[in-house]
Amino acid sequence: MPKNGARSVAKNPEPRTRRPEPSAQNLAPRTLLITGGAGFIGSNFIRYVLDSHKDWSVVNFDKLTYAGNLENLRDVENDSRYTFLKGDIADRAVVGAALSEHKPQCIVNFAAESHVDRSILDASPFIEANIRGTQVLLEAARAHPVDRFLQISTDEVYGALGATGVFTEESPLLPNSPYSASKAAAELLCRAYWKTYGIPVVITRSSNNYGPYQFPEKLIPLMIGNALRGEELPVYGAGKQVRDWIFVEDNCRGIERALLAGQLGEAYNIAGSHEMCNLDVVEAILRILRGLTGPTTKLPGVKFISDPRGAAHDFRYSLTTSKARADLAWEPFTSFEEGLTRTVTWYMGHREWVNAIVSGEYRAYYKMMYGESDTHSMPEKT
Ligand code: NAD
Ligand code: DAU
Repeated sequence: MPKNGARSVAKNPEPRTRRPEPSAQNLAPRTLLITGGAGFIGSNFIRYVLDSHKDWSVVNFDKLTYAGNLENLRDVENDSRYTFLKGDIADRAVVGAALSEHKPQCIVNFAAESHVDRSILDASPFIEANIRGTQVLLEAARAHPVDRFLQISTDEVYGALGATGVFTEESPLLPNSPYSASKAAAELLCRAYWKTYGIPVVITRSSNNYGPYQFPEKLIPLMIGNALRGEELPVYGAGKQVRDWIFVEDNCRGIERALLAGQLGEAYNIAGSHEMCNLDVVEAILRILRGLTGPTTKLPGVKFISDPRGAAHDFRYSLTTSKARADLAWEPFTSFEEGLTRTVTWYMGHREWVNAIVSGEYRAYYKMMYGESDTHSMPEKT
């Protein structure tokens, strides 16, 4: 201990020189460390990568929180190019060991607490996973250099729009919920680690994803599940909030393009450019379900409930994607009608998947958010 009683300060770390930056042309990933790969978008991305790049391997690093589910990847678990590691991105030792053993060229950081409503109930897990976890990963990338660190962020970092306007990548970050604040903080750390240490960071900010394997707490799968169970459809407030919906496969292609062609230190908006208010989304689900199950099927109605998000409920998001279209040669392919039909059909055909993941934790959460609920199991037939 120094005489003045101050705690001794660790020796300054060795100054690290910037590595030469690999250009998009010579970036040749062989191994990707994908965090949060057992969640909704991460599992879709892993499947997409293994299908599209026969010479790439994937290490899926996931804590398996309530939202992480290895069932999402059952079809690839025996692929010799796929490895699963259970771990927390906020655990320095485990993250360091994973990088040291697998030596990935790229890190794609999906791992996060992702549900706005849960962040309003308790912000702490969001700070720990989304901010501290990202910082631990960035530090690990200093000690075990990588060619790319792709941070998966969200349009929610921009805050909310009124009835008009659009967010560009230059819009200020004005998050309104603990979730979006934690994602904005993670982005700012990425930017700082790029500027300070030359960590080769690229950021994607995507709009609302939907598709197979989404945890049923989110709007679209929650409404499909309730409708199939014949339970009322809980719309917050008057259901007028607007989201810009993107089919998850289109986002996965955008993430791949950002990984291969994104400029270091840059952020890219990725969106379906399909804006809809929540009530219209719910009505579209009911219409598609009626078409798939027959006009005589009895489906439940909407129940307008008091808005649990209050002032943190962002009214509207809208993104311009011209930067991703021009610089990444990316565009979305899936229309909302097609994507939603595929999604509803998937959930109808995967009732056992839903039944297996709606744990006691989720049932308790649902009851707290929405009041009385049934068992949350999907009926075998509608
Ligand atoms: P999700 O909740 O379905 O999955 C999150 C995954 O991260 C789970 O597998 C979970 O186990 C894992 N995880 C959580 N904390 C972890 C930790 N500390 N260490 C390791 N793993 C951990 O989320 P999602 O909807 O697939 O979102 C993935 C990412 O995309 C998130 O970063 C989210 O902020 C971002 N995003 C989501 C959307 C969307 O519409 N779903 C839109 C834009 C951005
Ligand atoms: O915009 C990107 C974000 O999209 C991601 O960063 C988040 O991780 C992801 O969860 C999603 O956030 P949202 O809050 O927009 O999605 P969610 O599905 O929770 O809600 C969509 C809208 O539907 C929102 O206005 C709230 C409303 N809603 C949601 C639920 C769960 C309801 O009206 N009823 C509900 O039961």
